[in-house]
Amino acid sequence: MPNAKVIAIANQKGGEGKTTTALNLAHGLAMEEWRTLLVDMDPQGNSSGIFVDPEKLQASAADIFLQKKDIKEVIQPTTYNKLDLLPSKINLAEVELGALNVEAPYVLRDAISKVREEYDAIVIDCPPSLSIFTVNALVTADYVIIPLQAEKFSIDGIKGLQNTIESIKRRINPNLKILGALITQLKSNTVLTKTIMPVIQNYFPVFESAISTGVAVGESHLSRKTLLDYNPNIKQAKEYFSFVKEVIRGIKD
Ligand SMILES: Nc1ncnc2c1ncn2[C@@H]1O[C@H](COP(=O)(O)OP(=O)(O)OP(=O)(O)O)[C@@H](O)[C@H]1O
Ligand SMILES: [Mg+2]
Repeated sequence: MPNAKVIAIANQKGGEGKTTTALNLAHGLAMEEWRTLLVDMDPQGNSSGIFVDPEKLQASAADIFLQKKDIKEVIQPTTYNKLDLLPSKINLAEVELGALNVEAPYVLRDAISKVREEYDAIVIDCPPSLSIFTVNALVTADYVIIPLQAEKFSIDGIKGLQNTIESIKRRINPNLKILGALITQLKSNTVLTKTIMPVIQNYFPVFESAISTGVAVGESHLSRKTLLDYNPNIKQAKEYFSFVKEVIRGIKD
């Protein structure tokens, strides 16, 4: 029986490329015939917004946290073959206050355990914070991928994230492995190899693939498609394809 590999896309800094990476990794894995579930753990609902109108959702992640619905009632198919979605909307933010009990870090893991055998991969898009939703994602995950905006990365941010990952690993989820940092919104490869790469490599392994900056990324969001669907021939789509291949190599048994 297959047992999905669970990959969290996390970075507590905003705008680093988490959602773009989660969307294109999930779609890329589905294109490679992996039965994939994209989990939106961000109350902003950005990755959900590609597939659904969050306002019109009958069921979303908040209902799982509030114990109102079973995960199987919340998951829905997407327009893409082999890709399902566990959507979120803004009401997830309201859950946080009420969810501060001993069960709080384990809600997602318990829910996912009911569907884990139905998928080959589960990709979790995290919010830009180290909130209970990011904690839930890291408690559930086998792997974490950290998108980093190359030219704006901060060592302080990296340390905070690294500490959170390490303490979750130590206390709750010893299986959690940092698969790597993915450089996003890169302007020049020279800057990457000469200055940024050596610094980041002190903290995390870094994917060979990097994502350069380009307007097509924003355009794909506006047209409510993944980049791989919007224009598979564009540079950034090819870079995401090569990243997907690298992830597959990294998580295969
Ligand atoms: N490679 C890229 N080239 C150009 N623009 C990009 C690229 N990757 C992401 N962006 C843009 O940067 C912004 C942030 O990207 P994204 O939403 O993926 O980041 P995020 O980390 O999920 O943000 P948040 O922390 O708010 O959830 C978006 O407007 C997106 O279109
Ligand atoms: Mg996001």
